Amino acid sequence: MPAVRPEGIRIALDGPAASGKGTVARAVARALGYRYLDTGAMYRAVALQAERRGVAWSDAPGLAALAEQLPLDFRWDGATLAVLLDGQDVTEQVRSQRVGQGASAVAVHPPVRAALVRRQQALAARGGVVVDGRDIGTVVLPDAELKVYLDASPGERARRRHAELVARDPRGAPPLAQVLAEVNARDAQDSGRATGPLSVAADAVVVDTTALDIPQAIQAVLALARARGA
Ligand code: DC
Repeated sequence: MPAVRPEGIRIALDGPAASGKGTVARAVARALGYRYLDTGAMYRAVALQAERRGVAWSDAPGLAALAEQLPLDFRWDGATLAVLLDGQDVTEQVRSQRVGQGASAVAVHPPVRAALVRRQQALAARGGVVVDGRDIGTVVLPDAELKVYLDASPGERARRRHAELVARDPRGAPPLAQVLAEVNARDAQDSGRATGPLSVAADAVVVDTTALDIPQAIQAVLALARARGA
């Protein structure tokens, strides 16, 4: 018999970089009164902490030790998620392109993944949660009540990420062609790794957002969630 989740269903939301997962996950969690767990922020926090402690992104044992002890906290107020590292708000810092590349690099190491996966499973155990990442439906919560794979074409994802970078820093944003090259490189790294690669779980519902705007993508996932008892 499936375990009863006192706080609601567990929604696994996977997909490639810049597919809109974070925005959709936050909005769905907010609409349902659920918690939001951003697992990408955990890999990003490991990369940032490594940089601060002088541990190379290639040093698997050093990174695993950091990941085991990571003084990481999330503050979810029902609408926004703050990431705290060592008690310091690093929400903005972990979103940078550089830390994103570091996250993708540290995420290839199996002992780093093992440490973070354990933590993610503990955080999701009570249910009532939207968990976004790459391997949530396949590895972290293989028995999640709902698995969604959010996709969009690489060109559309690059366009969205570029618009976001321009909004943040109109003069410092890299050209679209460079953002597209980074999206493709990140896809290759995230899909090509041996442990917990980005892949579609057999029982996931694929939602292609290439031609959807954000409210439509949110409604699509909310409808699936309600159909599964959320
Ligand atoms: O979703 P994001 O862009 O914040 O993720 C940053 C990196 O972390 C991404 O390139 C791959 C990695 N990641 C992962 O390997 N597994 C997850 N569950 C989430 C993120």
